[in-house]
Amino acid sequence: MREFEIAVVGSGYVGLVTGACLAYIGHRVTCVDKDERRVAELREGRMPIYEPGLEEMVGRGVSAGQLRFTTDLPGCVREAEVVFVAVDTPPGEDGSADLSNVAAVARSIGRALSEAGGRKRPLIVVNKSTVPVGSGDYVSMLIREGAEEAGNGSVDFRVVSNPEFLREGSAVYDSLFPDRIVLGAESRDALDTMRELYEPIIEQSFPAEMDPRPKAAVPFVTTDLASAEMIKYAANAFLATKISFINEIANICELVGADVSSVAYGIGLDGRIGPRFLSAGIGWGGSCFPKDVAALRSIAREYDYEPALLDAAVCVNERQRKQVISKLQRDLHTLKGKRIALLGLTFKPNTDDLREAPSLEIAHTLSSLGARVVGYDPVAAKEAARRQPGLKAAFDPYEALRGAHAAVVVTEWEEIRSLDAARAASLMEEPRLLVDGRNALDPERCRKGGLLYRGFGRA
Ligand code: UDX
Repeated sequence: MREFEIAVVGSGYVGLVTGACLAYIGHRVTCVDKDERRVAELREGRMPIYEPGLEEMVGRGVSAGQLRFTTDLPGCVREAEVVFVAVDTPPGEDGSADLSNVAAVARSIGRALSEAGGRKRPLIVVNKSTVPVGSGDYVSMLIREGAEEAGNGSVDFRVVSNPEFLREGSAVYDSLFPDRIVLGAESRDALDTMRELYEPIIEQSFPAEMDPRPKAAVPFVTTDLASAEMIKYAANAFLATKISFINEIANICELVGADVSSVAYGIGLDGRIGPRFLSAGIGWGGSCFPKDVAALRSIAREYDYEPALLDAAVCVNERQRKQVISKLQRDLHTLKGKRIALLGLTFKPNTDDLREAPSLEIAHTLSSLGARVVGYDPVAAKEAARRQPGLKAAFDPYEALRGAHAAVVVTEWEEIRSLDAARAASLMEEPRLLVDGRNALDPERCRKGGLLYRGFGRA
């Protein structure tokens, strides 16, 4: 393989994981961030996010001399053959993606290119941030604008779109063992260079200590810029819709006395449907699904197209969170003065991410209805309580359950899945209600332990 000189702009979730993994497969990587404190911490080996395996991977890259951190973007652009842009594109008021960070980086790249003068090969600028369809051309325009500002507009570069499909909690694994690599560009030579850069992952030829099972080659999908950008939105919108679909089925299951777990198993065996992303419950949250579905709806509306199916997927998802409240009201009647424990607060297990976490919205509604809300989470209890007025942090699940009339499993951390039902019941007050928002606990075991169990779509 050829060793590339790579810069990754933005040391957030995607940038840091991408940088560490590209260093691991043998490239020389510089991660650039404008936040000096973050760069200083990373140099000391301290991670800004919680992600299994990341700290070790970064440490390894740094000790091997393959990975470093800096705030000097122009310096990196001068040295690099490929620059990955992995800055965030948060949702604006109307749901559309805010591109100001991407735009600022593109202009800086243009200025740096212009100031650096002639190059041996064109700089490849890879967009990893999730951006609206058509942004590839916008980024090209901004790079050129930046270059003109610096006095020389005739700079040589190619823009490539390379969406990421990392799941939080298994981001390092997903980077090294992806289902596919998607690349979009208007230039064939840029796609060929990217293929060479990703060769160790495509061929699965890097040291296999993390997962020694033999792997097939990873499909390398090449297409135009707009289609690559669309693949990211379509993938996330499909998965979010699949979850909303099973949640709708769960709601109907409850009405007719069927069990959604059996239904999901039964339909998932059909190869055309597949078994994954069919777990019913509180619904989807996190930094990607809500943001990307909102952005896709907003893109469709720009073209005067009503995205009816996506609208419905969001509507079902919003309803699922409200269902937690109605399930509590059904058994507790008034919630005023009742103590309610929320178990698991992050948007899903194995992450510290609270963005669009259903727990915060549920805590807000419960406290506005007069309930006393206490939350436990293995990593984010304190932070959740800081963000959500009315939510008190507990540092142990059983401490949260002491004196509670009801508990809600919001996030299925392993520790919550293996809750001791009898111990929980002994600490709780009547009616000892457990609303299992993730269908993660065994109803029989809960009932035997003395809890009043209510799941989602479970008869
Ligand atoms: C997602 C995509 O999976 C990933 O490919 C993309 O790059 C980023 O967005 P992530 O946000 O880390 O990744 O979470 P994911 O594991 O996909 O779960 C998303 C949400 O759906 C979570 O809130 C989860 O609790 C929920 N979910 C997932 C369900 O409610 N039911 C399921 O069956 C699966």
